[in-house]
Amino acid sequence: MEPVELEEEQPLGALFNKYGSDKDRNGYTEFYDSLFKNIRNQPINLLEVGIGTLIPDAPSSMVGFHLAGYKPGGSLRAWRDYFPKGQILGCDIQPDTQFTETRISTVLANSTSREEVDRALGSRTFHIIIDDGSHYDEHQVQTLKNTWHRLKGGGYYIIEDIQPWSRISTDFRKEIADFVGSSSRMFFTEHKNVLIISKERSTKRRLSRKARAAQNGTRRAT
Ligand SMILES: C[S@@+](CC[C@H](N)C(=O)[O-])C[C@H]1O[C@@H](n2cnc3c(N)ncnc32)[C@H](O)[C@@H]1O
Repeated sequence: MEPVELEEEQPLGALFNKYGSDKDRNGYTEFYDSLFKNIRNQPINLLEVGIGTLIPDAPSSMVGFHLAGYKPGGSLRAWRDYFPKGQILGCDIQPDTQFTETRISTVLANSTSREEVDRALGSRTFHIIIDDGSHYDEHQVQTLKNTWHRLKGGGYYIIEDIQPWSRISTDFRKEIADFVGSSSRMFFTEHKNVLIISKERSTKRRLSRKARAAQNGTRRAT
């Protein structure tokens, strides 16, 4: 019998660089890998807002920021290879970002418009949502509000490229915390330029775990 050749798992940083995304250069590889390494082989659904336009003067264009060999969708390809069973969806406002490839699809929508997002995403839900879109703090808050209900319990919501003058960690912090609820956990990366929110698992699942524990007689007496 011929030996089966297993595909080698490539490190996340190498994948970002291979496809020309600036995420490794921005120092994002380590926290992403530590968040996702245990679910790497799960059939996850991932949404990334911001595919990477190459229109020079477009807001948040990748022109001047990407690495060699970049095409719109660099990070989508890196996620596709990192999660071998994952389905990857990109959302962007610029038409040059739209394409379809193995396990990658894209939609055209302004993430700050609830109407456009709902029209583009239909009933889709996700285990991971990444906002690498406009990078304006008000847009980041609005995008969170427009997509949070699509994040599954136990999933991660990540806001990248929080600017030094951003109000995400100051004025908007309480608004975000109230919106996502007290049992979701919010934490900033070391340089406060990325916010990670892990969503609580659904009450139903937590109750059923409690019920199971009670049945097994392991629930603490109160
Ligand atoms: C930094 S690039 C994304 C890079 C890509 N994630 C990568 O690493 O390869 C940001 C993208 O966000 C898009 N964008 C800006 N504002 C947006 C909005 N309101 N809704 C959706 N996309 C937006 C831009 O058109 C641009 O393509």
